[in-house]
Amino acid sequence: MKTLAVIGAQWGDEGKGKITDYLASQADMVVRFQGGNNAGHTIVFGDQKFALHLIPSGIFRHNTSNILAQGMVIDPLALNEEMDMLNDAGVPLTNLFISDRAHIIMPFHKDLDKLLEERRPQKVGTTGRGIGPAYMDKAARTGLRVCTFIDSVGFKNYLETMLPFINDALKKAAKNTYKVQELFDLFKPIRNRLSNHLADTSSVIHDALKKNERILFEGAQGTMLCLDHGTYPFVTSSSPAASSIPLNVGMPARNLTSVLGIVKAYTTRVGSGAFPTEITGETADAIATKGHEFGTTTGRRRRIGWLDIVQLRYAHRINGFTDLAVTLLDVLGGVDAIKLCVAYEVDGERFERFPADHETLKHCKPVYETLPGFTEDITDVRNFDDLPENAQNYLNTIERLIGVPVSIFSVGPDRRATIIRKSFFTEEEIS
Ligand code: IMP
Repeated sequence: MKTLAVIGAQWGDEGKGKITDYLASQADMVVRFQGGNNAGHTIVFGDQKFALHLIPSGIFRHNTSNILAQGMVIDPLALNEEMDMLNDAGVPLTNLFISDRAHIIMPFHKDLDKLLEERRPQKVGTTGRGIGPAYMDKAARTGLRVCTFIDSVGFKNYLETMLPFINDALKKAAKNTYKVQELFDLFKPIRNRLSNHLADTSSVIHDALKKNERILFEGAQGTMLCLDHGTYPFVTSSSPAASSIPLNVGMPARNLTSVLGIVKAYTTRVGSGAFPTEITGETADAIATKGHEFGTTTGRRRRIGWLDIVQLRYAHRINGFTDLAVTLLDVLGGVDAIKLCVAYEVDGERFERFPADHETLKHCKPVYETLPGFTEDITDVRNFDDLPENAQNYLNTIERLIGVPVSIFSVGPDRRATIIRKSFFTEEEIS
């Protein structure tokens, strides 16, 4: 049996999509386990480009099952659009399974998301997709699950019970309100469509485990955006950490065997929140341009910073990475001196612990180790030994400081520019 989780080790946007696409080609099943359409990655298949926000990229492969597990919050309108887009491109959706226990994002969750953000003194920088309010309802036990959404009586009851409260709040904020029948009619065709994909996905995963199938768990966002372990309150409303997988998919914890941490060769962050290694100016602009650091979901320019080893060690502690994939290494080409933050300093005191308190993190000054950069264009490099010495040194330093092997690195957007140093679903070494 072999199960592998792909986990963002930073604040999201680490390039998980590309690594997931590669690994999905070897997996029998790809599972999204948390979040919703706040995530997004563009994938190139054949000569076509697709932006996926909910459906796993295994959908492009005929024999791969694709699961939206119960830990997710699903916007049926967004899912319907994504299904239309794939349908129009001739991609079959027969292998798509949606958990009957996942929660649904209603249009008013998106209104509430924006309303909450407007009223917060410190903005979280939410994508506004209704993720937070849908998880709030889940925790408050007033959420709408897929199994109830599909059922006419259940869905109508839900609307009749919830809309008076929701409309009250929206009215007070001078926002548009909703009518039961309008929402009921809007979702009728979508409910019919989704009902064809409904499954007890925990059971589907158990069957796959019994058959020794290769299962890939596709994390969205990153560890530092985790509701429990991230830079609270500037986080998302679910846990992208590996430890959330068993709970979010309905699988015993012992069934997760490998955890691949995706680490961008530098750090980026979208939205608000402390970011000790953040840089601005020429180098940051050059990295942002070369690395196309603009969000897939919102188009916002990402904030840029050096690699933060304190943060990455913390992410390793939470996730227990068995391997690392370092992405976008080519983007650092031409940077004279590459910095790595190896400790923080607050009021003259040095420490290596990632603080819980956001105010403390805001005052952390990075202590840097500086490595010589490389000027060569490395986008055509296809194995480790052909990298310039300084690029090799950078990867070796990351490996040494975090204590986890760099088993994948990527040097460009092309599929062949992802260099795999170990075969994941069989465990044998390649180079
Ligand atoms: P929300 O999940 O849309 O409420 O956003 C909460 C925070 O997580 C904001 O700072 C977002 O920018 C960030 N975020 C959510 N999803 C992603 C993602 O897929 N990549 C990077 N940041 C994200």
